[in-house]
Amino acid sequence: MLQGEKIGVFDSGYGGLTILKEIVRVLPQYDYIYLGDNARAPYGTHSFDVVYRYTREAVSHLFSMGCRLVILACNTASAKALRTIQQVDLPEIAPEKRVLGVIRPSVEALAQYSQNGHIGILATRGTVASGSYPLEIEKLYGSHKFRITQLACPMWVPLVENNELNGAGAAYFVEKSLRELWCADPEMDTVILGCTHYPLLLPLIRQFAPSSLNVISQGHIVAGSLANYLQRHPEMEQRLSKQGEICYFSTEKAELFEEMAGIFMGKLIQCTQLRLPC
Ligand code: DGL
Repeated sequence: MLQGEKIGVFDSGYGGLTILKEIVRVLPQYDYIYLGDNARAPYGTHSFDVVYRYTREAVSHLFSMGCRLVILACNTASAKALRTIQQVDLPEIAPEKRVLGVIRPSVEALAQYSQNGHIGILATRGTVASGSYPLEIEKLYGSHKFRITQLACPMWVPLVENNELNGAGAAYFVEKSLRELWCADPEMDTVILGCTHYPLLLPLIRQFAPSSLNVISQGHIVAGSLANYLQRHPEMEQRLSKQGEICYFSTEKAELFEEMAGIFMGKLIQCTQLRLPC
């Protein structure tokens, strides 16, 4: 195990690796612990209470493994658990530690992309039902700047999880959802991929989306936002260990994680299985 304080990156499963990859590209000097709750994924179909409980358990575990800062790479966890963890749990269990999510930075970046204010959010059913994106957008920009269309794509995560990225099934479901989104607002100029898994479908999304549409993946946005956060918080930055190492943990069998994570990261990785709650 790495010495010193680390950055934890949490996801329901593999998808958060799309975020971790970008974070490590931008901030390679830090030490990271990635935790995927694969045994209990997908989170997108679970209720608020369950996602909150699972996420809180994972965050507590990452704290106990020496993380001072945890990024909830999972949109569903960010939507359903982040606020309660920040406002209720942290002051009680670890007031000096921090947990950040992916929705706020994605919303902050929106204004750079959309020219006409017509935007789409593609996400899991849970994230869409939570209303977190529209709420954050309204908080940041008011209610008139953007016209928002949300669409849940429940088939996309299983396609990615089953490594069906290049099959006819993936093409069918990606085209179907994009057509539905586009029909709901033909003036849409920007779409946020509000789920960790969706960037893996980017080649198909580009194939079926109008060429004028900005398609935003979150990885580089979250990485940029974290770099900015660390610059503004030297008291946090100075405590983080800097050996450029990454440790991977999953609640599923290590070999299963290693095989799929290798595809996400484009290289061999070693994983350790752990049990939640510990
Ligand atoms: N990580 C989830 C998200 O970003 C997608 C997978 C799941 O449903 O667990 O919303």
